[in-house]
Amino acid sequence: MALRIGDTAPDFTAATSEGTINFHEWGAGSWVVLYSHPADFTPVCTTELGRTAKLKEEFDKRGVKAIALSVDSVDDHKKWIDDINETQSTQVNFPIIADEDRKVSELYDMIHPNADASATVRSVFIIDPNHKIRATITYPASTGRNFGEILRVIDSLQLTDNYGVATPVDWVDGEDCVIVPTISNEDAKQRFPKGWKELRPYLRLTPQPNK
Ligand code: BEZ
Repeated sequence: MALRIGDTAPDFTAATSEGTINFHEWGAGSWVVLYSHPADFTPVCTTELGRTAKLKEEFDKRGVKAIALSVDSVDDHKKWIDDINETQSTQVNFPIIADEDRKVSELYDMIHPNADASATVRSVFIIDPNHKIRATITYPASTGRNFGEILRVIDSLQLTDNYGVATPVDWVDGEDCVIVPTISNEDAKQRFPKGWKELRPYLRLTPQPNK
């Protein structure tokens, strides 16, 4: 069955471009972005991996570790990393899982047989420090992911965990947030000293708490 939000991210041990890892041990105490690629030496993936490397500072700020997956070998990954570094003007600074037997791809339902019988689609799993899946995003092989959107989702999840706010449509960092309906006005007075606008009793907007 497909993995869903709230499920525990399945653990696994796998070979990667940075050696063998146990997934839960590797991600212990961090948020994790696990994302799949259809194959090595493919153009869209090359740009995505380059972007991930360049965003390391943004991931670090949020306590996030990135890990990619492709169904090719460690040797191929290493050769491909040289290409990525050269063509994308960066240094790949995170592991790429070598899922030659498709064990992890199948565990995470990354192969959608009606799209392609053997290559993975572009899955993204955002996983919290308790190993819970907090968001999943799936793109077709032909569409490169928007890593700004991935960071935006992480920001939203971390605001919810830390402050009890949700984020409204098209929210970007710095904009007003929504007070979650389970917080009463009485509690909100303590939690949101900057106050809020009540458009409806269920629609209360407050300045982003950590700004
Ligand atoms: C790519 O990564 O460039 C790609 C992979 C599969 C289909 C189309 C594009």
